[in-house]
Amino acid sequence: MKVLVTGAAGFIGAQVCKALTGAGHEVVGVDAMLTAAHGDATTPPEGVLEVDVRDASGIASLLPGVDVVCHQAAVVGAGVDASDAPNYGSHNDYGTTVLLAEMFAAGCDRLVVASSMVVYGQGGYDCPVHGPVDPLPRTQKDLDAGVFEHRCPVGGEELRWRLVGEDAPLRPRSLYAASKTAQEHYALAWAEATGGSVVALRYHNVYGPMMPRDTPYSGVAAIFRSAIERGEPPRVFEDGGQMRDFVHVTDVAAVNAAAVAADTTGFAAFNVCSGRPISIMDVATKICAAREGQPPVVTGQYRSGDVRHIVADPAAAAVVLGFRAAIDPTDGLREFAFAPLRG
Ligand code: UD1
Repeated sequence: MKVLVTGAAGFIGAQVCKALTGAGHEVVGVDAMLTAAHGDATTPPEGVLEVDVRDASGIASLLPGVDVVCHQAAVVGAGVDASDAPNYGSHNDYGTTVLLAEMFAAGCDRLVVASSMVVYGQGGYDCPVHGPVDPLPRTQKDLDAGVFEHRCPVGGEELRWRLVGEDAPLRPRSLYAASKTAQEHYALAWAEATGGSVVALRYHNVYGPMMPRDTPYSGVAAIFRSAIERGEPPRVFEDGGQMRDFVHVTDVAAVNAAAVAADTTGFAAFNVCSGRPISIMDVATKICAAREGQPPVVTGQYRSGDVRHIVADPAAAAVVLGFRAAIDPTDGLREFAFAPLRG
């Protein structure tokens, strides 16, 4: 098949292109080469065209003959403050709407789109007394006292995490999350209106070689790596018990290849995760142990708006797309401790 990959020069997009080419597809890669992602590098890597998804005529010129669009281009991170909103809205939301309109015009009816677990908001929780509940937001009083778990809205008990399935309500809590949720909604509306198919891939915490270095928009694995390289111990917030699912970038590329090859109809969303939950303390410890450096420091500090636990159910992607992550975080994080970073 002929596949148009957006964000093709990025940390994830580059691996997606590699996986698709390896699977025998013809790949057309485009990237806007934004400074936030590529620093001073202004020329795209070999084989990638410098095109912004918001450029309707640029995208239109590439779509004839394309069977599937694999849309990875996005501004990422959580956003620093409200001034970031137009940037997310423009690149992620408006960009996706331009792409969908041009796909419709060109008769291209299949989209694979990079989404994120951030669309779920808080994650899933059980009360030991009241069963599955929607947690109360964490109070500053609790956080200052070192009580990091959410409380039950009925009796105030501390809650336990549970796996989040794709049918969980979408409750974005950051600018980035709002833009990813909107992107899914535009894609769903497009699928309904045009009869096209959409696979939205909700990435959990992606890590691996060429991950962007420590910036206000970086994930924690890169932040820990950057600290170690400065000769400092990684600083683990809260009590380190926050649970996540770390999925290796080559597994993310593999699920994109599976989605491109899949025969789905309408709109379908899937968690993309390793299926092996891990605490943030464990992530830091594994990276430090591999480097034989100082152990992490648990600071007890917290970031307002941070999610306590978010751990995905990998079942649907396995059943429908045949995707099972190949890399266990224990092995992947050991390798990541020495992997080259970007920027
Ligand atoms: C992250 C991304 C989110 C993305 C998602 C999936 C950011 C800011 N968040 O969400 O946009 O969609 O992964 O890939 O990029 N922590 C520390 N020490 C630090 C920094 C963070 O202990 O120095 C802790 C945080 O308190 C949090 C956990 O690590 O509990 C994860 O943080 P982070 O990777 O930033 O955000 P996620 O919420 O997992």
